[in-house]
Amino acid sequence: MTALAAGTVVRLMRTATWNLIDDGECTASAYAVCRPDRRWFVSIDTWDEAAYAPLLSAVSDDLRQDLYTNLSGDDGPGLDRWRRLGFAVARREILYAVPVDPAITGLGDVLPPGIVLLSADAAEENRLRELDNALRADVPGTEGWVNDPAEFREHTFDERYFDPATYLVAVDDARETFAGLVRVWNHPRHARLGLIGVAPPYRRRGLARALLGAAFLPLHERGVTSVAAEADATNVASVALLEGIGAQRTGETLELLRRRER
Ligand SMILES: CC(C)(COP(=O)(O)OP(=O)(O)OC[C@H]1O[C@@H](n2cnc3c(N)ncnc32)[C@H](O)[C@@H]1OP(=O)(O)O)[C@@H](O)C(=O)NCCC(=O)NCCS
Repeated sequence: MTALAAGTVVRLMRTATWNLIDDGECTASAYAVCRPDRRWFVSIDTWDEAAYAPLLSAVSDDLRQDLYTNLSGDDGPGLDRWRRLGFAVARREILYAVPVDPAITGLGDVLPPGIVLLSADAAEENRLRELDNALRADVPGTEGWVNDPAEFREHTFDERYFDPATYLVAVDDARETFAGLVRVWNHPRHARLGLIGVAPPYRRRGLARALLGAAFLPLHERGVTSVAAEADATNVASVALLEGIGAQRTGETLELLRRRER
């Protein structure tokens, strides 16, 4: 009998490209990226409507996987096109502008008893990565996500986006467990709420609100007025949390899915 290896299999982000060639020139391209949750996302870059079908059929023949694509909620012609190609709307994400001024959000700085906050760069990295895996399992659309250690480090501490003042981890001091995290990525034109998540035993005690309050304060002090955020339309807790602090809906993103032919 073969012994089973201990540990977890992780998949690194993979990308693939297909080009449509006409008269020796590349006239259109399809790109696919496989995320650590094993979902393949496709995009097609072309001005030529007729290029979609042959490129997509090459992607599908090669990958033989369910295929996803994202589309702006107001892109009616895009939706018609991807539907003709066999895709259907699988999820809707509401886009928000979330204010950061405590006078608007009502967020304070009171933490639930026994909880302390650490900046992500002071947190033990393996535990931070495991917390990220666990929280993503509860976020619609990222179930099954398992981070590779090196890729997680590279992404988390990417100096273009990482801000130690706005990526915070909540730690249960007595139990020495990680209870939740908030991360706001620093973007040149707009800051973006990447994730707010609280582990199940710590929910409904005001921890998410406390984490958001702590991450938003330095942004407010720097003169930032709002951060961009998304929430799955079916994620009742997250929609209530964001709209409860004054988040305004700014649009919608559709996630389309085409199931693999079996
Ligand atoms: C969403 C989440 C972060 C909330 O964390 P939390 O610490 O329980 O939230 P808080 O205790 O600070 O609650 C703040 C408000 O959010 C709303 N809320 C939180 N959980 C809720 C739920 N299960 N149902 C409805 N509203 C909820 C309420 O308005 C609540 O205020 P209230 O307790 O005064 O009614 C948590 O449920 C979670 O981690 N979910 C999985 C990850 C996720 O989906 N993250 C969001 C991705 S954008």
